[in-house]
Formats: sequence, C-alpha cells, structure tokens
Amino acid sequence: MLLGSGELGKEVLIALQRLGVETIAVDRYADAPGQQVAHHAHTVVMSDPAQLKALIRAEKPDLVVPEIEAIATQALEELEAAGITRVIPTARATRLTMDREGIRRLAAETLHQPTSPYKFCDSLEELQAAIDGGIGYPCVIKPVMSSSGKGQSKIDDPAQVQAAWDYAMAGGRVSHNRIIVEGFIDFDYEITLLTVRALGTDGQVETHFCAPIGHTQRAGDYIESWQPQAMAPLALQRAQEVAKAITDNLGGQGVFGVELFIKGDEVWFSEVSPRPHDTGMVTMISQWQNEFELHARAILGLPVDTALRTPGASAVIYGQVDGRGIVFDGVEEALRVPQTELRLFGKPESFSNRRMGVALAYDKDVDVALQRANEAARHIKPRLDR
Ligand SMILES: Nc1ncnc2c1ncn2[C@@H]1O[C@H](COP(=O)(O)OP(=O)(O)OP(=O)(O)O)[C@@H](O)[C@H]1O
Ligand SMILES: [Mg+2]
Repeated sequence: MLLGSGELGKEVLIALQRLGVETIAVDRYADAPGQQVAHHAHTVVMSDPAQLKALIRAEKPDLVVPEIEAIATQALEELEAAGITRVIPTARATRLTMDREGIRRLAAETLHQPTSPYKFCDSLEELQAAIDGGIGYPCVIKPVMSSSGKGQSKIDDPAQVQAAWDYAMAGGRVSHNRIIVEGFIDFDYEITLLTVRALGTDGQVETHFCAPIGHTQRAGDYIESWQPQAMAPLALQRAQEVAKAITDNLGGQGVFGVELFIKGDEVWFSEVSPRPHDTGMVTMISQWQNEFELHARAILGLPVDTALRTPGASAVIYGQVDGRGIVFDGVEEALRVPQTELRLFGKPESFSNRRMGVALAYDKDVDVALQRANEAARHIKPRLDR
C-alpha cells in the first residue's frame, strides 16, 4: 500500500507490479498518478489517524510504503507495533522525517553529523533572538512542517525578519507557529546521495550508494538534476559516511535520498527522505535499476545493483496553466531532441507551478545531457483542452 501516489509513488507501484506484487494506491485526491496504475485505489485524508488506521485495518497490506511526509505517522507506529503491518523503511523513520525537527535533532545532536547551525523558534521574538544570538545573516527560515520550499525564505538583514516569519506562518503544513532558522551555507554545490539498505546473501542489511546526483533548486523546488555530480574523493567519502550514519540509525530496508551541501572537501547534512527522491528521477535514464526499482527490490528483500548506466539529466516540466484536464503540445518536438525520454505524470489538475512531467536525457557528457533534458522540457507546452 502506497501512502501518496504522485509521480514518485506511481513509479514505485510500476516497479512492484513488475515483480508480481499486488498494489493499493492511496492519495488525498482521486485519479492521482499512482492510482491510474495500481490494482486498487483509495482516496482518504492520510493525515487523519482514524481514516488511515481504518483503511489499513480493512485492506491488511503486507507492506505500507509512505511516499509523502504529511501522514499520521503515530498511527503507523501503533499499527507496526501491534504487528498489523510493516512500514517502509520503519514507522520511526517516517515519524522522524515528517518534520524538520525530528531528523535535524537526530542528525546533529544524537549522531553528531555536520549540519548548518540552527535553532527552533515559536515566535518572532525567539527568531530574532536566535539570529542575534549566533545564527546571524544570511539565514534561512522554514516552517518545521513543509516541503518543496513552501514558506521558506533566505534573509540578509534585520529588516526582513518580520516578513520571513509571516511567510513561514502562511506556508506551513499545519497551523502551529514553529519554524527552524538555519545559518546559510555558502556551498559550492548540493547533492542527493541515494542510499539503499538492502539484504545481502547472508540476510543482513547492506548499504549501497548510487552515484551522487547534482541538482538546481529554485524557490526550494528542484528544477533540474544530473548524475553523476563530479566530487572530490574526500568529499564523496565524507558524504557517504554521513549518509551511512543517518540511514543506519533510521534502519529498515529501502531507498533514502540524503540531501547534502558540499564546499570543497566539507560536507553538511541537510535532510533525508526515507524513500525515493524527486531529484532521483534522473535515474530513470542514468541507472540500470532506477531508484524506484531499487526501492521495490530493497523492500522485498531482493538484491540491488546501484551501478550507473550512463551520465544523464532530468528537467522539470511545470503546468504553466491552471485547470483540469490539460493536454501537452510539443511532445513530438521534445522527443526529436536526441537521447531523450519523457514522463508526463497524468495529474488530473494543473497549476502553473505544479510539476506535471519531467524530461530525461543521457549522454557521455553530463553537461550535454543536461542541455538536452532542458531543451526537451522547453518544447512541452501544457494547455487547457478546450
Ligand atoms: N541552510 C541552508 N543554506 C543554504 N541553502 C539552503 C539551506 N537550507 C536550504 N537551502 C536551499 O534550499 C533548498 C530547499 O531546502 P530544504 O530541502 O530544506 O527544503 P524543502 O522544502 O524540504 O525542499 P524539498 O522538499 O524540495 O526537498 C535546499 O535544497 C538548498 O538549495
Ligand atoms: Mg530538500
């Protein structure tokens, strides 16, 4: 049972089906991408513990695979503890990563991994005190519960504090006043290190790393990614050590997207998804086993191979228009760009800033792959089907 059936969940469902697994796609709205390919579909409010528990008790899935953060993780912990189902990778991992506080405190305070300096604050006064008390400027302010950059802002001076606070209050997923303020890391580049915990021949969990994925973020949302990101050997080694420390602690089996900032040989942990990562969509063209297949294999206890097949890149296609039932012009032109592929997710409703598809490209030169992915993405013109 996939909890969340967007573009990432859809690919996990396809990978599971190819291994003969019966699948159930759950989302908050009907006809979500994953629901279009699963054996069974349900539409519920996944952040409501009662609804979530009732559904899991009724369907009795062998595995519950969360694909989003906004779910009633407490309910998952109860069901897992009662032996009713198995949560991927673990119910505890989904709880710790559902907001920024659990995972940040675990990484920095329990596991002593390098992170940006940070402070959690519940009021504008606390925020100002945290900045004045050492975080300084520039800094980044984020609601503890948010994703894709919602409510997040970078500020450079005291005049911007109030606006950043107000923006965070408006952008959080739940209506409480907690934010994290982080010192701004002036990194050279940032990566997602896909880390796979899968069973070896002896039945013990082994950790595998995919080649690092570089990406560009705009307003907290990824717009393009490429693999491999060239890295100094020491930086790569440190990145893998950080990823291993965090994923060892989170436990279970599956793919983790470990987000790291890199400057020279220095590495900072940012956050982690206990599931495939959006920037990892590039692996649909660049790896023999993409991150969704790796997730499916790992959670089923099957062997994995994280080898790179070719350098590649992905470029996001946004909705550009608001409305239901859009069509795409330019698909032929996009696919005439050599060495490219497309994934159009089939989301029933478009918003101008909603991710509706992704263009993929490969080349022995990763820069060429990135150019081609972007060229293909630019050809796609969503429009209302009127
Ligand atoms: N402390 C920081 N210093 C420098 N840049 C930062 C910092 N925190 C966040 N960023 C930038 O903002 C991006 C988004 O931040 P973060 O991953 O914390 O937010 P998010 O809302 O969880 O995004 P997503 O859900 O897309 O991963 C990062 O990938 C990075 O580019
Ligand atoms: Mg992130």
